[in-house]
Amino acid sequence: MDLATDESHLLVFGDSGSGKTSFLRTWISAMVSRRSGWEVRFVVADYRRSLLGQVPDEHLGAYAADSEALKVYVEQVSAKLRERLPPSTITPRELAARTWWEGPDIYLVVDDYDLVGGGPQSPLRPFVEFLPHARDIGFHIVLARRVAGSSRTLMTDLLVARMQEMGSAGLVLSGDRREGVLVGDQRAAVRPPGRGVLVTRRAPTELIQVAFTEDLMTSGAAR
Ligand SMILES: Nc1ncnc2c1ncn2[C@@H]1O[C@H](COP(=O)(O)OP(=O)(O)OP(=O)(O)O)[C@@H](O)[C@H]1O
Ligand SMILES: [Mg+2]
Repeated sequence: MDLATDESHLLVFGDSGSGKTSFLRTWISAMVSRRSGWEVRFVVADYRRSLLGQVPDEHLGAYAADSEALKVYVEQVSAKLRERLPPSTITPRELAARTWWEGPDIYLVVDDYDLVGGGPQSPLRPFVEFLPHARDIGFHIVLARRVAGSSRTLMTDLLVARMQEMGSAGLVLSGDRREGVLVGDQRAAVRPPGRGVLVTRRAPTELIQVAFTEDLMTSGAAR
């Protein structure tokens, strides 16, 4: 999965115990091993502190464990992203080469998004305006939430709705199929932990098992 060149954003759906946090750990550790802190910076929203210590300092832009902290960081990141919006005088060549700003790509990683909330009061609401410009400004959202309640809450959730419309990548882990279509044409199904359907533009939709090692659970703390 390459969010830098393909979909930009990723939605992970799975009920409790389906392997959402484990997926995020695996993905973060893979990113960190391939990219320097100059190239990627993680902004983590993690109210249950499941990802605490997973991102090395070099790659960590901010870590929010509650809504107050998240609001502050969202404001700071939004200001940074606004500076990166292309000027109106930009040429196609400059746009393609991303010459008008420098810095790391910012990955907003949200675990347990249902706790953050997606309604009009969501602390993440300011990011909606940046979603379509993601590639130009080096901004990515990786968001994990429960399947349960999706059919009800996603109707008022602008951020997730926009991510779905844009054709974000998706990983659909275990959950109730009656919650409806979540990403692409995929509904959830009851599956073992770490098992899910990966939806990307690049490859046909496929059933995968997320890599998992116990080491990942402790490596962050050891760092
Ligand atoms: N890829 C995987 N392969 C094998 N087992 C896994 C995998 N991912 C998770 N598990 C098992 O499932 C358990 C729960 O995983 P995890 O904590 O990632 O789920 P979660 O979706 O984040 O749950 P919650 O919503 O409660 O936070 C893990 O402790 C592990 O035992
Ligand atoms: Mg979790």
